[in-house]
Amino acid sequence: MDSEKISFIQKNAEQAIAEARDLTALEQIRIEFLGKKGQLTACLKQLGNLPPDQRPTVGQIINNTKQAISAQIDQKKALLEHDAENERIAADTIDVTLPSRSRHIGSHHPVTLTLQRIQRLLGSAGFEIAEGPEIETDHYNFNALNIPESHPARAMHDTFYLEDGHLLRTHTSPVQIHVMQEQTPPFRVLAPGKVYRCDSDLTHTPMFHQVEGFAVDTEISFAHLKGLIESFLKAFFEQEDLPIRFRPSYFPFTEPSAEVDIGCVICQGEGCRVCSKTGWLEVLGCGLIHPNVFANVGIDDEKFSGYAFGMGVQRLAMLRYQINDLRLFFENDLRFLNQFKGQIH
Ligand code: DAH
Repeated sequence: MDSEKISFIQKNAEQAIAEARDLTALEQIRIEFLGKKGQLTACLKQLGNLPPDQRPTVGQIINNTKQAISAQIDQKKALLEHDAENERIAADTIDVTLPSRSRHIGSHHPVTLTLQRIQRLLGSAGFEIAEGPEIETDHYNFNALNIPESHPARAMHDTFYLEDGHLLRTHTSPVQIHVMQEQTPPFRVLAPGKVYRCDSDLTHTPMFHQVEGFAVDTEISFAHLKGLIESFLKAFFEQEDLPIRFRPSYFPFTEPSAEVDIGCVICQGEGCRVCSKTGWLEVLGCGLIHPNVFANVGIDDEKFSGYAFGMGVQRLAMLRYQINDLRLFFENDLRFLNQFKGQIH
């Protein structure tokens, strides 16, 4: 062992320190040269093999070299720590020039849009909103509406009966009874809401929406009903020359009764799949309030008369927005719903 070997070790150490890329590598170098089993410690251990007169000088050289390497390691360590800190800061910074996340804007469901549209148009004709319970009694849903126990119309309603004798209302007509019992005429009322029928296929869902309308006053005639329905439908479909026809029909709670058809909005009356090649679409039922209904709520039918009408909201929404599948209303598929973004009623 001589000073040449020591300076060789020093050169190796210096080169290794210069090449160290991170703190772990640098620590390895410290162990390799200065550690307990390091190269310079080994040199110190060999001092005893030298002639006594050379020991102080060589010992001094070794110690100086150790200090020099140690100083270089410290210097490099400071440098690497600084770099690491800078990297951390760079990774942490927020790039304020990045575009912000856009706010998601939702849309109203087409059923909501249609309900709102019906309410706006008929609201401007003086109709006020009333709501009734979705859980009803036989009395409100049927009897009071002139549909007695044995009446065949009951079978057509596919009623959900509850265990305690209540039922889920099959139409919004029972709201007529609630209002007529509680208020004294004249009134014009609109009753929107959910109705339930035990029926489910491509064109029926167990829950759907209806809007019921009715007016009671001293001089109400079928002409009032016809005029109102015609202007409502023309406004609803935004078509002044919309063909409209009243077809005689039957409902237990109205007399006379009619079903109202409009010229098919899909094929303009040519005949298509939607109108079953007839050119006409049925959109609502209506009539003059039956004397038995008035009797059931204690309204004098000598003094008062009234009309009533009922329509299906999903059906009107399908026609207005040209939606060809009822299931789309209930799936909540955003690709469908997003198409109504920005729509107002
Ligand atoms: N309640 C009827 C139904 O669900 C709809 C209806 C028809 C309501 C004629 C009326 C009406 O007020 O006059 O099928």
